[in-house]
Amino acid sequence: MTVLTIATQPIAGQKPGTSGLRKKTPVFMGPHYLQNFVQAIFDAIGGAQGKTFVLGGDGRYFNDSAAQIILRMAAANGAARVIVGQNAVLSTPAASHLIRLNKTDGGIIMSASHNPGGPNEDFGVKFNMPNGGPAPEAVTEAMFARTTEITEYRISDAPDIDLGRIGDTTLDGMAVTVVDSVTDYAALMETLFDFPAIRAMFTGGFTMRFDAMCAVTGPYATEILENRLGAAPGTVTHGTPLPDFGGMHPDPNPTWAHELMAEMMGPNAPDFGAASDGDGDRNMVVGRGVYVSPSDSLAVLAANAHLAPGYARGLAGVARSMPTSAAADRVADALGIGKYETPTGWKFFGNLLDAGRATLCGEESFGTGSDHVREKDGLWAVLLWLNILAARRQSVAAIMAEHFAKYGRNYYSRHDFEAIATDKADAMMAALRGSLATLPGQEVEGMTIAAADDFAYTDPIDGSVSQKQGVRILFADGSRIVMRLSGTGTEGATLRVYLERYSPGPDGLDHDPQEALAPVIRAAHSLARIAEFTGRTTPDVIT
Ligand code: G1P
Ligand code: ZN
Repeated sequence: MTVLTIATQPIAGQKPGTSGLRKKTPVFMGPHYLQNFVQAIFDAIGGAQGKTFVLGGDGRYFNDSAAQIILRMAAANGAARVIVGQNAVLSTPAASHLIRLNKTDGGIIMSASHNPGGPNEDFGVKFNMPNGGPAPEAVTEAMFARTTEITEYRISDAPDIDLGRIGDTTLDGMAVTVVDSVTDYAALMETLFDFPAIRAMFTGGFTMRFDAMCAVTGPYATEILENRLGAAPGTVTHGTPLPDFGGMHPDPNPTWAHELMAEMMGPNAPDFGAASDGDGDRNMVVGRGVYVSPSDSLAVLAANAHLAPGYARGLAGVARSMPTSAAADRVADALGIGKYETPTGWKFFGNLLDAGRATLCGEESFGTGSDHVREKDGLWAVLLWLNILAARRQSVAAIMAEHFAKYGRNYYSRHDFEAIATDKADAMMAALRGSLATLPGQEVEGMTIAAADDFAYTDPIDGSVSQKQGVRILFADGSRIVMRLSGTGTEGATLRVYLERYSPGPDGLDHDPQEALAPVIRAAHSLARIAEFTGRTTPDVIT
């Protein structure tokens, strides 16, 4: 077999976004598209010669053939070994764990996360570093720069290898180890949580629904929840991963996980419900009759993590992305531990986790995780909730009510306006940015604006600076509006409007966040002139 050097030329638009490069599947399948980007990855990290990588993806359409291409390119670029999940499938947190467990030089993850999959939907590729976390901006910038000057890539002409068979094989001299996708991840979970206590809770009649949304977590959830923890067979629904996710939009939020929501709000609801996304790093948590917002979930997990064996020593600190509500900050203050506010995207948590400053991290976009890996981890969050429920022996509703009574409540919602023409969205954001200096002191909807800025972040570990990470409008009463454009979409622009209002409580569960936030929502529309610029008056998705 021979190594081929294929002449190519730069393809426009290969700039990684919030989480890797995401495009429509036919774009990724186009001539040289995947190959150019993979070669740019290898070039940007100083070559692949002699290195070991992890490879896996969320199983969406094109996952299998993309894996074969990446393996042939790794071999041709001189990689020593690639550890691949069976059938090239790995959840994102499982891939992160394998990178760390095997002390590899990083890994390539094929996923477009919660975006739909299929021949006409989305595909994505990202590189994770030896610490298991997404490549930082400096590295993704180097990859992008390389895509703009690339002239050739290297690929072996070896035939496809059988990724269904677990064990060792070789591809053009490169070692390939195919591993079970679930085993090492499940073993890690057993070290963190009190499996006997959770098992006893299930034996005692506790009921649960886990909606895997026809995505990657099905086999993980079935093995851990049903086989190891004794949840009733059938607890996991939509548990078979499908290349098109069965037509589902595998994004665990009340809009897209509506089947789960209907069951949890219905008359025969189980005690606990959860869902995960396409690649298994997101989670939504629901109690019987009570939805838990991701920002509140992070706060409750932070307040109770010590009940799980893996966190019994307590937390070093809690980090949240800037648009995430400040609920977790209140817990951090009460515990006397560090609190950090980072830009959107998991890559910004990596340094804090590596330095031991933060133990738990979370984003309002249904992402929660800890220092056990360097990605957010959907099933991990579900297991931590189960451990807390087993230890406290209370319902989710009771835990939430006690939490709000103690800390007050940060009413919170995110409104998404999708597929706006990019020029209109850019014009709106430019006008808003231009108005920031004039905002402080103004009164809107009976609230006084205390400050307004464009969030910039200086990483406390390496001093790197990230500018323009979202416009913040802060009110004197503690309410807050944040606006930014999505960095993961593949069609036009998506405007995200994050809304928050603090109530010191005591406050029950009976307030509808949309009602509590009504003046803040009106203020956001008038200050940014959303309708005037975009023609939109109502959001497409509310979480
Ligand atoms: C979105 C979320 C962000 C998350 C990212 C990857 O990015 O908002 O919190 O880290 O997906 O899952 P966005 O589209 O807003 O750039
Ligand atoms: Zn995801």
